[in-house]
Formats: sequence, C-alpha cells, structure tokens
Amino acid sequence: MSKSYSTITLETDEKGIATVTINRPKKLNALNDNVLNELADLFKVIQVDEDINAITVKGAGDKAFVAGADIKELRELDDRSGRMASQKGQQIFQLIEDTRKPVIAAVNGYALGGGAELAMACHLRIAGENAVFGLPEVGLGLIPGYGGTQRLPSLIGRARALEMILTGKQVKAKEALQLGLVNEVSATPVEASKELLNNILKNGPIAIRNAIKAVYHSDHHSGYQVEADLFGQLCETEDCMEGTSAFLEKRKPEFKGK
Ligand code: CAA
Repeated sequence: MSKSYSTITLETDEKGIATVTINRPKKLNALNDNVLNELADLFKVIQVDEDINAITVKGAGDKAFVAGADIKELRELDDRSGRMASQKGQQIFQLIEDTRKPVIAAVNGYALGGGAELAMACHLRIAGENAVFGLPEVGLGLIPGYGGTQRLPSLIGRARALEMILTGKQVKAKEALQLGLVNEVSATPVEASKELLNNILKNGPIAIRNAIKAVYHSDHHSGYQVEADLFGQLCETEDCMEGTSAFLEKRKPEFKGK
C-alpha cells in the first residue's frame, strides 16, 4: 500500500484479493470521522488499482466487526450537521457498493448500527459463529443513518427489517442466515470469504463486473435523502442527547419524546 492510514490496514495476496481491516479494536472498531475518511480514500484507490481483483472487509480483533458510528461524535451533531454526517456515511458506503469488484464482509462479533450498515453495503456477507447483527439506533434516540433503512428492507424484506429497526434487537449468526442477511456462517469467516472470492474470480472478469452492476441497477435511491433528513432532525432532540449520554455513562436512557 503506497498510502498509510492510521485506522485501517490493507493487505493484498498474490491473487489480488485484498483484505481491508478496520483497526480501532479498543473502541470495537467504531466508525469515527477518521475511519470514514480513510475508508473513502482507500476504496477510491481500490477501484482503480489493477492489482486488486476482490476485497474482504473485516474488523480488527475477535470482539467486533464494527460496533457502529462513533457515539461520542454523534453527540456533537445538530440538524444540519447530522444530515450532512448521514449523507457522508451514505456516500462512502455507496462508494463501497459501487465497487465493480466483489466485496465481502467477513463479520466476527458485533456488527451494530453503522457496522451492520457497512456489512450491508458490501456485496456479500459471511458471518463468524459469534457474529451479532443489529440496528440499535432507536435506543439512542436516532435512526440508522448510513443507508440501513434502505438496505435492510431490500435484503430481508420490509416487515422483518422494520421489526429489527423498531426494536433494535440483536440477531445472531444463525438467525441472520435464516433471514437472508448473510450468505453463510463459518467458523473462519475471513478464510471462507477468500475461498468464495477465489471461486468468483475463476469466472470472466468483465462478466463479474457487469453482473454486479446489473444486480444493483434496479435499486432506487430517493429513500436515502429521507433517511438523512430524518437522522439530522433527530440529532437535535433531547432524546438523542439522553440516549447517547446514557450509552457513554453506561446507564439506561429515560426518553421523554422531546
Ligand atoms: N461508539 C463509540 N464508542 C463505542 C462504540 C460506539 N459505537 N461501541 C463501543 N464503544 C466503546 C465503548 O464506549 C467502550 O469504550 P471505553 O472502554 O472507553 O469505555 C469500548 O468501546 C468497549 O465497549 P463496551 O465496554 O461497551 O463493550 P461491551 O462488551 O460491554 O459491549 C457492545 C459491547 C454491546 C457492542 C456495546 O459496546 C454497544 O452497545 N456499543 C454501541 C452499539 C451501538 O449503539 N451502535 C450504533 C451506533 S449509532 C450509529 O451507528 C448511527 C448510524 O447509523 C450512522
């Protein structure tokens, strides 16, 4: 890798399979602004790097893929900056989805909030046996803001997605497989991801590129704007301040609907 990053690493093997690792294990790889900027930069590089044919995305350590957007940073947001933060996350995850090389999330441990949204922006997902998925934002007085309200329904259907989003419940690997949220459960998700990518790469490279493009073409994107607007509005509510404070102070929130 010619550029150096402080919160992500990139390794590429001899077949051109790159492994992108989100590397903030002490904060369960939570997506702060720095991680998001570096991810955006890295995926722009990946898209044009002819030595990279496919990508695995994983989190550092055993405990988490990514535990969400950085809650400490979310507390600073108001309506306008909240909407912009949501749009920024959406655009970066769109960049990942728009990669015309197969991208697989290898999910060990927690994939919550922005972490689940990152996994959903990857083309395929392989869960480790300890993987836990969830969109817990309502518990913070928020809604998913990095595309989760759009991608989850398209992956598992509106009713199941709404149940997950409204309850914020956590879903373990086997249930995620039954829901269609992940493609496979494996004891070794990173290795399983590389094996799957190797199988994919045996096929015609232009066909692979065009297949990804065609499959995503039918998705419509107006819902993302609505998501960002509503996320921004929530950033200014007392409930959001209470929900994020409660998390950081390690206590239960008391919402007032204000
Ligand atoms: N943001 C900031 N810090 C986080 C974080 C997050 N999303 N998730 C974990 N951390 C930090 C914790 O504050 C803690 O830091 P300290 O050691 O400095 O106290 C450290 O990572 C370890 O976490 P815990 O002590 O909480 O670990 P645990 O094993 O007790 O719990 C967990 C693990 C259930 C994943 C818990 O950390 C948790 O619930 N995390 C938050 C999950 C969440 O709500 N994610 C959604 C964020 S909002 C979002 O993503 C919005 C969006 O759509 C854009």
